[in-house]
Amino acid sequence: MLKAFFLASLTVGASAIPTARSYGERDYSTDFNIKLSVASGLLDAPTDGRIVLMFAPNGTEPLEDTDVTSSPNKIFGKNVYNFGPKHPVTLSGGSNESTATGVFGWPNVSLSDINPGTYSVQAFLTRYETVTRSDGSKVSVRFPCGDGAPNVNGFGSLMTSITDVEISGGAQIVELTFNNVTAVEAFTGKEIGGCHQGNYEDTDTLKHIKIRSKKLSKFWGRHMYVGANVVLPAGYDAMDKKTRYPVIYNQGHWPAGQGAYRYGKDENFTAAWDAGVIPGDNTTADRPAPKFILVTFRHEAPYYDDSYAVNTANLGPYGDALNEELIPVIENMFHTIRAPYARVQDGGSTGGWASIANLIYRPDLFGVCFSSYPDSLDFHRHQDIELYTASNAYKRANGSSVPSIRTHVNGTEVILATAELENRWELTFGTASRSFNQWDVWDAVFGVQGYNNYPLEPWDKVTGEIYPEAVEYWKPFDLSNYVVTNFNSSRNLGAALAGRIFIYVGTWDNYYLNEGVTEFQKRTDAVGGSGWANVTMLPEKAHGGNYQAREIWDYLELVERWVRDHAPDGRTPLSASSTAPCTRGNVWEEVIQYGGRQAAIKRQADPKIDGENAKVGEEVSASVGRWDPGVKLIAQWLLDRKPVCVSFSVEQGAVVKYTPTAKGYVQLLVTGEKRNYVTETRKSKRVFVGR
Ligand SMILES: *[C@@H]1O[C@H](CO)[C@@H](O)[C@H](O)[C@H]1NC(C)=O
Ligand SMILES: *[C@@H]1O[C@H](CO)[C@@H](O)[C@H](O)[C@H]1NC(C)=O
Ligand SMILES: *[C@@H]1O[C@H](CO)[C@@H](O)[C@H](O)[C@H]1NC(C)=O
Ligand SMILES: *[C@@H]1O[C@H](CO)[C@@H](O)[C@H](O)[C@H]1NC(C)=O
Ligand SMILES: *[C@@H]1O[C@H](CO)[C@@H](O)[C@H](O)[C@H]1NC(C)=O
Ligand SMILES: *[C@@H]1O[C@H](CO)[C@@H](O)[C@H](O)[C@H]1NC(C)=O
Ligand SMILES: *[C@@H]1O[C@H](CO)[C@@H](O)[C@H](O)[C@H]1NC(C)=O
Ligand SMILES: *[C@@H]1O[C@H](CO)[C@@H](O)[C@H](O)[C@H]1NC(C)=O
Ligand SMILES: *[C@@H]1O[C@H](CO)[C@@H](O)[C@H](O)[C@H]1NC(C)=O
Ligand SMILES: *[C@@H]1O[C@H](CO)[C@@H](O)[C@H](O)[C@H]1NC(C)=O
Repeated sequence: MLKAFFLASLTVGASAIPTARSYGERDYSTDFNIKLSVASGLLDAPTDGRIVLMFAPNGTEPLEDTDVTSSPNKIFGKNVYNFGPKHPVTLSGGSNESTATGVFGWPNVSLSDINPGTYSVQAFLTRYETVTRSDGSKVSVRFPCGDGAPNVNGFGSLMTSITDVEISGGAQIVELTFNNVTAVEAFTGKEIGGCHQGNYEDTDTLKHIKIRSKKLSKFWGRHMYVGANVVLPAGYDAMDKKTRYPVIYNQGHWPAGQGAYRYGKDENFTAAWDAGVIPGDNTTADRPAPKFILVTFRHEAPYYDDSYAVNTANLGPYGDALNEELIPVIENMFHTIRAPYARVQDGGSTGGWASIANLIYRPDLFGVCFSSYPDSLDFHRHQDIELYTASNAYKRANGSSVPSIRTHVNGTEVILATAELENRWELTFGTASRSFNQWDVWDAVFGVQGYNNYPLEPWDKVTGEIYPEAVEYWKPFDLSNYVVTNFNSSRNLGAALAGRIFIYVGTWDNYYLNEGVTEFQKRTDAVGGSGWANVTMLPEKAHGGNYQAREIWDYLELVERWVRDHAPDGRTPLSASSTAPCTRGNVWEEVIQYGGRQAAIKRQADPKIDGENAKVGEEVSASVGRWDPGVKLIAQWLLDRKPVCVSFSVEQGAVVKYTPTAKGYVQLLVTGEKRNYVTETRKSKRVFVGR
């Protein structure tokens, strides 16, 4: 029954993450350990993936609450390779060090940290598919299946029954068996793309589109699809080709079958929209509803429930797939106004970022964005992390923890999670940025590919140590930096985007996203003059709601006025020079050249000895080569292939020196180690030292 879920055959092979034999390598008899096997017939072939084991309080269901701010569970993860009926796996212990190969848990690291008692236990296996992307990078990831990429129970994942387990505190073996598969909903097996991006029934006014993306399929080396949910306005007549409508492209998370603004879920909005009449109250009369075509995308991607709607080196050309492939299909099928002034971008949070990014990179395609509480617009504040200047993402210089989620209770700020707690929680669900959660997807979207083929993470996920060189690669997605550096460049963003960016955030944003907006405003005001971008900060407002906390119709009428004013016959038509037929950034070829496999290879270099005419008794010096940020180095000198000193640790960029005491061939070996990287030893050339 699993076969149907994956179109491409499941390839099991060496990934760039070091593989470990996950069974039979040590004697577990003295520990508390969990042995997991799989019922025969459940898997058609052995698989790579991640096992996540959850211990919930007795009498509760482990899936009831897995949220970082409230879960009472103890969660443990471990990568598995070639897992199948013949190779059960044992989970035991856990450590901060071996996250790629061993057990890693939250809130406590090790299985041995669980207090004795009775727990309700369930295990899940997220299956990975190994693919080689067109730039040559090979990764093992989960391709989502119309399920919004949940933490552990995505469609096609294996699960055990919920089992009551009594932990004694001494040596103990608990045996669990994967005996079930999470079912794929609403999938008959005949649809284009199978479960990819889901399958939904149309209604008269809510249409679902799904296309195979040529660009994404080429990049991923397998069939890839993108979809859209299209809500038609009242009175829309498929036969009437003269009446055309502006379109709001509403960006956000996985919408399943729903239309934008919860069309289909919010009965009052749906009813009023379909009637084309905004109901009045006791002070206002009924009035006609604005008429738009409302589009929201289905673009679940490896790494997250949506792609952030831009071209990225880790996720692929999603920006192009949506803008160049899907939107033309929408414009062919429906009676849209095909001009930038009538293409609006909006959204909140992730969608807030995606909407402003699309306007900044594609002012030729879109006219305006109304971006609400967007993800960090300026990485001087990535949430509340001072990414460019801090040395640790979890701890401030004064030792206090960096918060990541807050709320306000009676006006007093209450911290619900710290950056450290949340990152460690994510790490139980996936290593190498594969948790399908927030911090990880930012690493995937904003970062380049690492030399290990996975996102080049800006800090060590366990310790929080920031790698400035990795952060530097984020710059093209620092929208503030991008606007400022291209303000007067050939991209001419200053003139092109003036009057077209609307941003809203509350000062009590639960994720500190107001901080990034403040930085964006400060820097764009400095080059463009006050109000270059129209920023609204509402005091004491939390994350969520419509633009400027407006009631939905009030907001849609504001957008309607903007479109009317900027139409060719409007008061302030959008000028052709600001929408000239070119993109202004995030060009796929440049993105992959800058951040793909070949760039990662080019960043590397072997150690190099400066040893022309070297002589015994005279110092020889060598560089340690170039490595990815965060790789820890151990070096050793050899003379005639034999060690002449103990190995020593050395910083990246250092120059190391050695004074030979005998003639022969001198060589430097450097070994680099990093979480989720294969440990690698690189050698300098051998240099002859004479007398
Ligand atoms: C665990 O919960 C079950 C009900 O779900 C109950 O029957 C049992 O007594 C509980 N065990 C303990 C040790 O509390
Ligand atoms: C793992 O690291 C965290 C944070 O540095 C620390 O609090 C914890 O004690 C460590 N646990 C183990 C088992 O090393
Ligand atoms: C487990 O974590 C909790 C809270 O994070 C801590 O209070 C407790 O001491 C830890 N237990 C062990 C055995 O490390
Ligand atoms: C498997 O899980 C489904 C829910 O996804 C459930 O309906 C079914 O009863 C389970 N089967 C077994 C054998 O536990
Ligand atoms: C719809 O409107 C009714 C009457 O005003 C209200 O009671 C109900 O809560 C509304 N439903 C939603 C989903 O807002
Ligand atoms: C109008 O309706 C609101 C509730 O929607 C109510 O609070 C107010 O008293 C009403 N005013 C009049 C004049 O009926
Ligand atoms: C540490 O610094 C932060 C700002 O960087 C500040 O908000 C916090 O109050 C300081 N904590 C202590 C204990 O000084
Ligand atoms: C918040 O204020 C209300 C009313 O003053 C009070 O009843 C409530 O206990 C307060 N909550 C907290 C957490 O202080
Ligand atoms: C852009 O060019 C204008 C006019 O040449 C100049 O006044 C302004 O300082 C420049 N701004 C930036 C950010 O370079
Ligand atoms: C900013 O936009 C709002 C609408 O969102 C508008 O009311 C306001 O006048 C604008 N501010 C400026 C300075 O243009």
